[in-house]
Amino acid sequence: MQQRTLPAGIEQVVISADEIAAANRRMAEAIAREYAGRSLVLLGVLKGALFVTADLGRALAEVPEGPSDIQLDFIAVSSYGNAHRSSGEVRLIQDTTHAIEGRHVLIVEDIVDNGHTLHYLRAMLGNRKPASLRAAVLLDKPYHRAVDVPVEYIGLTCPDEFVVGYGLDYQERYRTLPYIAKLRPEVLPA
Ligand code: PRP
Repeated sequence: MQQRTLPAGIEQVVISADEIAAANRRMAEAIAREYAGRSLVLLGVLKGALFVTADLGRALAEVPEGPSDIQLDFIAVSSYGNAHRSSGEVRLIQDTTHAIEGRHVLIVEDIVDNGHTLHYLRAMLGNRKPASLRAAVLLDKPYHRAVDVPVEYIGLTCPDEFVVGYGLDYQERYRTLPYIAKLRPEVLPA
């Protein structure tokens, strides 16, 4: 394998771009079966889920006999917390552009960690009477779950490390890396 130079602050790649693509394809196949012939709203949660929403959407379009049509919408939330662990307080920054009542809605997230963000979204969006509401999450990080929240489609299990890349940031940096990587410990606060 070709040696690559990692950006400053990155210790090692923990999930490669190929592994991410394969996980998106697996999720897309399961989602396509479930929503075959139905109109689906993929609801990406910004900013972290930007890339997985785009790639999962395109992987879904490649599966024969999937949803009759796929629409994209986005919602932006942020969780308060310290530099690298969220507190559980979730704040809505930007709502969907279209109403979801009567629609089949699939929330798309990059990661579920303590679970507060997805729990908040499922409760808020569930109150709007969608025809169905499920969640697809690329990375499940089950080690510090604070609330029990259902996730219907999981791409991969995340190691118990602070990771960045493919949408995940540290102080807004590293989101555009095409892989998931571990930060050097000296970058993080003690
Ligand atoms: C991250 C991530 C999820 C959430 C998961 O978002 O994108 O939305 O945290 O964490 P939880 O399960 O512990 O609640 P963040 O609030 O950092 O905003 P971002 O997507 O803009 O990075």
